[in-house]
Amino acid sequence: MVAPPKDACSALAELIAIEILPGDGVLITVRPSVELEPLDPNRFFMLRREDGLSPKIPRPFSIYREVAREDGPADLVFMIKVIGDGTRALANTRVGESLRLIGPLGKGWPSFTEPADETPWVFLAGGIGSAPFFMAVEAITAAADEAEASGERAPTPPPFLLYGAGTRELVYDAEAFSELDCALHVATDDGSFGFKGNVVTLLQALQAAGSIPQRVRIAACGPMPMLRAVERFASANDLECYVSLEDLMGCGVGICNGCVVETKPDGPLGAWPNAKCCVEGPAFNTNAVVL
Ligand SMILES: Cc1cc2nc3c(=O)[nH]c(=O)nc-3n(C[C@H](O)[C@H](O)[C@H](O)COP(=O)(O)OP(=O)(O)OC[C@H]3O[C@@H](n4cnc5c(N)ncnc54)[C@H](O)[C@@H]3O)c2cc1C
Ligand code: FES
Repeated sequence: MVAPPKDACSALAELIAIEILPGDGVLITVRPSVELEPLDPNRFFMLRREDGLSPKIPRPFSIYREVAREDGPADLVFMIKVIGDGTRALANTRVGESLRLIGPLGKGWPSFTEPADETPWVFLAGGIGSAPFFMAVEAITAAADEAEASGERAPTPPPFLLYGAGTRELVYDAEAFSELDCALHVATDDGSFGFKGNVVTLLQALQAAGSIPQRVRIAACGPMPMLRAVERFASANDLECYVSLEDLMGCGVGICNGCVVETKPDGPLGAWPNAKCCVEGPAFNTNAVVL
């Protein structure tokens, strides 16, 4: 049995800022009552309000940004799409109120900087699936800066971030993403912002134009139909590909079996027919799971 991560804890956090985004998004910034180890991109936390107004089962959210402070634990920012009772309750929290944080959970992304590899990463984000990529780009930039400071080559080239959404207002926090050190390309289904189409057709167009090489490594997060299209594209082009699954979760720590995903019998996870998204994921190599 895969155990929950050793650095996970249950702690209170104070909501210190809330920003309503256009569309159905909200950014919440919380100050945990305990010091956490620096977080890898795509770890996640189970969150709920502490005043009883959230559903009893907390909901999982990727860490979007971590903001270091000199005089205490880093603040954590979550980017939330409001779709039901749990997300609505979180979006209605007021500054000064308490949230329960359980985490950090999951394994995060595979390392984007080790082993060193010249093949660039292409990050494909669908709507709120952009949340786990902000810190991923920051991690690649930090590794490149560190290498440069010691006179070495960056372990991997700057990534490409292709950010797709239904419409302009569903491209959450676009301005913050545009300030990252990566080539950002936006696609919307209705053409109201950037390329008209989805992230896979955008990637194909950019490759055809020579703006992105043919040989890339892919990491994707977004709705399941998008992830299936990404998997088909990666498989047809024999590209290394990881997907982060936003599965329904009950406990987040491997106990309830609420998050199982079917595994491929000849894949890297072995012959066992399923995996628990919360402790073995949420990111999986597409060779490992059936989408
Ligand atoms: C590892 C992980 C990271 C996540 N990161 C984020 C994040 O950064 N930001 C964010 O906004 N969301 C994220 N999610 C999704 C988020 O957890 C769900 O949107 C949330 O649990 C919905 O709770 P709710 O009570 O508002 O909706 P509910 O009332 O539980 O559900 C409302 C409706 O949406 C459906 N639904 C609920 N969850 C999902 C889902 N995951 N996929 C498809 N349909 C669903 C339900 O079946 C129902 O029809 C993440 C999920 C996982 C597993
Ligand atoms: S959410 Fe309970 S086992 Fe994964």
